[in-house]
Amino acid sequence: MQNRLSRIIKPSTGRTVMLAVDHGYFMGPTHKLEEPRKTIEPLLPYSDGIMCTRGVLRTSVDPKTSVPIVLRVSGGASIVGGSLTNETITTSFRDAIRVNASAVALSIFVGTPHEHQTLANLGKLVNLGEDYGVPVLAVTAVGKELEKRDARYLGLACRMAAEIGAHFVKTYYCEDFAKVVKGCPVPLVVAGGPKLETELDAFELAHEAIAEGAVGVDMGRNIWQSEHPVAMIQAIREIVHKSASVREAQRVYEELKKTGSPLIAKTQAH
Ligand code: R5P
Repeated sequence: MQNRLSRIIKPSTGRTVMLAVDHGYFMGPTHKLEEPRKTIEPLLPYSDGIMCTRGVLRTSVDPKTSVPIVLRVSGGASIVGGSLTNETITTSFRDAIRVNASAVALSIFVGTPHEHQTLANLGKLVNLGEDYGVPVLAVTAVGKELEKRDARYLGLACRMAAEIGAHFVKTYYCEDFAKVVKGCPVPLVVAGGPKLETELDAFELAHEAIAEGAVGVDMGRNIWQSEHPVAMIQAIREIVHKSASVREAQRVYEELKKTGSPLIAKTQAH
């Protein structure tokens, strides 16, 4: 379990920059992720983990990659269906192990009609994770109710996920995020959420989350919907792994935008 977890949360810094590209499992061909391989390949050298479904893994990720896989194993609802929260476990643990997943991920929807079902999914997955030594990432999803992203709600959902046995939790950044961290006894990573207006906003989000105790990010749209995704992910790495300030991250981003040259040797990222 620790061995797998430390592939993702790097022991050298205790932090991680995970690349989230699992959006298609409920959103279909999301903007700038229409052709997953094209989006993923340039970003992989700078990712400490790739969060994706088995379908994207099979079709769009080179099996020779050494980037740890965080396999999304829940689904069953879509943005055009009746409810985004009605999820089940869609991928067997056997398949997760077959594809050499370093962790498995599923969403829980606390406070919705499918709260019980998704928490039961988490319990089942943790039982299997314990059997095979595979960490489980619980995603405290909010469905379409983005306004739910406050410390009270996220604190409740994160703590519940940890109590049921999640080994790490993905949540949203919010005001008073430190309270969410304090109440959650396992590592927290933050999602970026929908694309923010500017890159600076995304740097601020990452910087505040780290400053308040997150171990990293599991970021998607704010990286690959940026005009310069490769520069963007490297600037985010500066914040996460080197505790760079927002201003320093912005400088790195602007510099890489101009030169296109890699700041971090590709082999150093993982
Ligand atoms: C949503 O449930 C998905 O798991 C995404 O991976 C997650 O929202 C992170 O991506 P983004 O940074 O685009 O929000």
